[in-house]
Amino acid sequence: DTTARIAHVFSGTFVHSTPRAAVEILENCVLGVDDEGKIAFIEKEKDLVSLSKIWLFETSDIKQLGQNEFLMPGMVDTHIHASQYSYTGTALDLPLLEWLNTYTFPVEAKYKDLEFANNVYTKVVRRTLKNGTTTACYFATIHTDASLLLGELADKFGQRALVGKVCMDCNSAVPQYKESPSECKVETDRFIKELLKKQYPHVKPVVTPRFALSCSASLLSELGEIANNNKLHIQSHISENKEEVELVKTLFPGCKSYTDVYLKHNLLTDKTVMAHGCHLTDEELEIFHETGSAISHCPNSNISICSGMLNVRNVLKHKVKLGLGTDVAGGYSPSVLDAMRRTLDTSKTLTIQDPQHQTLTFEEVFRLATLGGSEALSLDEQIGNFVVGKDFDALRVNVCVPDGPIDLFPGEGPKVILEKFLNLGDDRNITEVYVAGRQVVPFLDT
Ligand code: GUN
Ligand code: ZN
Repeated sequence: DTTARIAHVFSGTFVHSTPRAAVEILENCVLGVDDEGKIAFIEKEKDLVSLSKIWLFETSDIKQLGQNEFLMPGMVDTHIHASQYSYTGTALDLPLLEWLNTYTFPVEAKYKDLEFANNVYTKVVRRTLKNGTTTACYFATIHTDASLLLGELADKFGQRALVGKVCMDCNSAVPQYKESPSECKVETDRFIKELLKKQYPHVKPVVTPRFALSCSASLLSELGEIANNNKLHIQSHISENKEEVELVKTLFPGCKSYTDVYLKHNLLTDKTVMAHGCHLTDEELEIFHETGSAISHCPNSNISICSGMLNVRNVLKHKVKLGLGTDVAGGYSPSVLDAMRRTLDTSKTLTIQDPQHQTLTFEEVFRLATLGGSEALSLDEQIGNFVVGKDFDALRVNVCVPDGPIDLFPGEGPKVILEKFLNLGDDRNITEVYVAGRQVVPFLDT
């Protein structure tokens, strides 16, 4: 429809990933967004005059990006615990299972209190949006009403989100922080029904068994059935830490591997994303490939609580979908830029250990943070890069803001500018954020 109203037009340099190129730079281009928030066109600037006739926009409506600016796709955080945001940056001195019982479960139990939930959830949604996370795949807590509130806040501030009410019925050291299996089923059904009833355009439920150690076999089966009957996303954790892997083997003696536990309970689908996967074997990765399930790589968390190091190169070799996650608060940073840097660090550490290891490039890591994340969440038909017809989820980046963290020098082209932003940049450089064509940063209320 050539008469569709064009809501925004940008002109300048755009940086994104394609299936063929980890980084594609489009210079001197114009990009139009229609009033449904979809990308309507991307053209060379010299065609602008003919375009302006066809598309009925005034050239004065164009946002002209400066020399040191570019647009990039919004970043996708494929694994973040909204409920752990309050203690981000602390409590990183214990290994996973002790960390859960000592710090995590006592804090998560507080989300029975909606006022407490409202305060933390408002802050995490705003913080991550400011940092350029246009899509977040959230764990909430076991509390249905607080989880619904997280969905409401993501919608209010305009973030695209998958929101999971956490399910767990065993092995919690905090007696009040677990559910009975029947409670868990009833509340999960209620959560899904009520969230879908809100008809938020960009917020969807995700079925969330915490991990195998927190769930009985019958609960896992129940959740697999709910997810498959309603064609919903699924998220959990897998093979994060060696002690966890061994315990899963003893608790599920009928299963060949940790992956087999989820496979047997119908929890590995092409809408599943499993966090960590540090200690998965090649055979397990093969199952991920066959089922179309994805891995969320959470390098800050993996190092911070000494869980392990995921070999991303090996995961990619098995053609398993992979995105990046902050894993707040096992990870201490809510920024996907940090997840990119830690991904590179981990990859370089693997190269130090084995010179044959092929280190990831910053271009590959940029892809993982954008298009890769959209694939991991099975949202790549809608978001992830700049393709006509996809939703416009984007960041306007200015690498030279006053008193900012980056210095540029003569002769530095767009690729160098991108690399400097990925390694040195922060939220000061992310001057505007768009989700489905709607500008959500700067915040409307500030
Ligand atoms: N495994 C089960 N629950 C959690 C959690 O909250 N954080 C991390 N990092 N791993 C988990
Ligand atoms: Zn996690």
